[in-house]
Amino acid sequence: MAEGPGRSCPASYRYGGRALAAPAALAVEALWVAGGVYGNRLALERLLELYDAEPGPKALVFNGDFHWFDADAAEFERVNRQVLEQLATRGNVETELAEPHAGAGCGCAYPQWVGDGEVERSNRIMERLRLAAHALPEALAALRALPAYLVAEVGSERVAIVHGDADSLAGWGFSQESLATAAGASAAHAALRAANARVIASSHTCLPVLQRFDGGRVIANNGAAGMPNFRGAGYGLATRVALRPSPRALYAARAGRLHVEAQPIDYDRAAWERRFLELWPAGSEAHRSYYERIVHGPDYQLARARRTASP
Ligand SMILES: [Fe+2]
Repeated sequence: MAEGPGRSCPASYRYGGRALAAPAALAVEALWVAGGVYGNRLALERLLELYDAEPGPKALVFNGDFHWFDADAAEFERVNRQVLEQLATRGNVETELAEPHAGAGCGCAYPQWVGDGEVERSNRIMERLRLAAHALPEALAALRALPAYLVAEVGSERVAIVHGDADSLAGWGFSQESLATAAGASAAHAALRAANARVIASSHTCLPVLQRFDGGRVIANNGAAGMPNFRGAGYGLATRVALRPSPRALYAARAGRLHVEAQPIDYDRAAWERRFLELWPAGSEAHRSYYERIVHGPDYQLARARRTASP
């Protein structure tokens, strides 16, 4: 299936790389960016606890896909409320909930290396999530009002925050797969320069990568805050960009004056697995697509996420 629901990228998802050269909307000394909470309320609560312990001027931005497994009205409402108490940008999940595009399915714009079965299951997960959110018009209106990207200043350095890549809300340009190619790395480096950004923080593609480029610029994709990111490791990840390093960082890169870090979100795995199974029992779409990853992690290792130079 080369085209069809879940494969396409709605035209309104595109903002174009120059949009990221916009003036900063906030200035802090520590910025946390968490994409892909995926409705995991245990991960959300642990993340908020870790962020609360951060001293000094700070902000937490949820850069999209904070909903996904929370296909239950009360759970959805709670995740929405906790997220929107912080700053947030829309992911494809929130965009397709709040403003469905005909034929977009889940709006993931999955590339060809993701199989048809997974794409079709994602479209069905989105349909169930829509049913749960249907009774919450205020929550949906709040999602509709969220921006597609944000620019922050940390110290005097610019950090652009997106869900997908520099061009599109659901772009895969900052996936670990794309950044591993010379063409992909070159395009990402050009996007950093065009945004006049030290760092672009992204998510969406489900696997983390922290890639440093010449000139001290960094692409930081946190993978998922609400799912395991490495085989055999049970934590989610958030990106922390700050003037001072944190002793909790799992791995990190320097970008000018900034420390760019992967922060482990060590949520209560047993409680989340129980809740996930209540929402998505064996045989359900989300169980078939994600349960193995939730329990064992994806087929991906930490050593592959940390990249210190352009290929
Ligand atoms: Fe996404």
